[in-house]
Amino acid sequence: MRRLSALLNFSFLLTALTFPCSLFGAAIFHDLGLEDWIAYQEPLAFKNLIRNISAPGTTKGSVLASPSKNNPDYFFHWVRDAAIVMDEMVTRYETTGILKNKNRYLESLIDYIYFSKQNQQTPNLSGGLGEPKFNVDGTAFSESWGRPQDDGPAMRATTLIHLAKVWLKEGNEKLVVEKLYDGTEHSIIKKDLEYVSHQWKNVSFELWEEVKGHHFHTRMVQYRSMIEGAELANLLSDFKAANWYLSQALEMEPELERHWSFNKRILVSTLNREDGLDYKYSELDSSVILGINQGHVENGFMSFSDDRVLATVNALEEAFYRLYSINRNGAPGIAMGRYPEDRYDGFSSGSNGNPWFLITSGFAEFYYRLATDLKNKQEIKISAVNKGFYRSLGVKRKSFDSYKKGSSEYKALIEAIHAKGDSFLSRVKYHVDGTGSVSEQINRDSGYMQGARDLTWSYAALLSAIRFR
Ligand code: NOJ
Ligand code: NOJ
Repeated sequence: MRRLSALLNFSFLLTALTFPCSLFGAAIFHDLGLEDWIAYQEPLAFKNLIRNISAPGTTKGSVLASPSKNNPDYFFHWVRDAAIVMDEMVTRYETTGILKNKNRYLESLIDYIYFSKQNQQTPNLSGGLGEPKFNVDGTAFSESWGRPQDDGPAMRATTLIHLAKVWLKEGNEKLVVEKLYDGTEHSIIKKDLEYVSHQWKNVSFELWEEVKGHHFHTRMVQYRSMIEGAELANLLSDFKAANWYLSQALEMEPELERHWSFNKRILVSTLNREDGLDYKYSELDSSVILGINQGHVENGFMSFSDDRVLATVNALEEAFYRLYSINRNGAPGIAMGRYPEDRYDGFSSGSNGNPWFLITSGFAEFYYRLATDLKNKQEIKISAVNKGFYRSLGVKRKSFDSYKKGSSEYKALIEAIHAKGDSFLSRVKYHVDGTGSVSEQINRDSGYMQGARDLTWSYAALLSAIRFR
């Protein structure tokens, strides 16, 4: 199952032998073009994602990071992963036209709210809401770990705010007040927002659970939770809270700007490192781009087309292109990892890091959203900071040129950006097999799937990228 079948000419035979039950799907799978593969993979990804929610042997409402119980043991509810996964569920709930499914998704969301409320109230070693993960029965995880991780409560709030907005749109304010936000800290969203708004200045561990400091990714998702939290508080007439959250968001902006390094010409992932790994010399980290995707708000701040973001994207692509041999064997796109110095191979940390599915999908998503962002602009300006990025898309002219909306060059550039997004999805396709299972990592040399199998976040990231496509 964990093989790079695209590299094998006899993949059809091998697949047929290994997966007789999925013979048909697996057999046709490698001949599929991207469109057809998406049509094939998308329902499988959602089926596999759902399987990890309220799974057998867990308390209802919990979300397994992966069903893998050893090597590695991912049989836990991570607050961050769960928020990302349940946001997919909110979107499904919002958009499905099938009543039976809608009710099923609703039930699962209600369970998640209940489980998460328990998490908020369970005493833990972080001593607050920054506890990164819980046992699947909802009890505290009490071994040593990188804690607190303050992106978690922000992302949980954002997912639940998304749900609150859907319920409000459906005219169900009563349900919002009862389950999500009643203006007191008894309600789940407000408790998270209060935590974020009072804690964000402190250092915490980042999404990779390895470094304690101030992180771009953590700050971006905190920023979004404050902006959207303020919107929700306003809608529910909690005006004082709304002003407070907004004031905190405004204070975060200059802190986020400080991540731009004039020397390196990238947005660095961490400032003020206090503890944890100390060998991330490049300061280059894909979490910055995940922070752009996951922390985006429609106000122009740190937008997809921000020159600093584009420069960082370009630097990451160049670094991982060089680093992984599987990126230089003719496969489409670039398989993207966490950061160049990564030593976590999906099983242990004394090794070599690898590309990750959720990051490669995250880059696809970034490009699709960038294309949309640029379509709303009157012109695309090439600058000293972004020229490396645009050059990598085939733009040959000198800096300080600009592409006017409506011109054929402008159109070609947008198309190239969309095609680049597709190249990352094609790359995901290249490394998965016909069963539709997606793990955490891709071996940097062989291309085989590696690390936790059926990583729930891998599915959510793929589904999100497909949606933005
Ligand atoms: C597991 C963590 O989740 C992962 O991010 C980290 O790299 C390894 N442990 C090593 O600390
Ligand atoms: C390790 C990753 O680094 C972290 O981001 C994630 O939350 C856990 N694995 C669980 O998937």
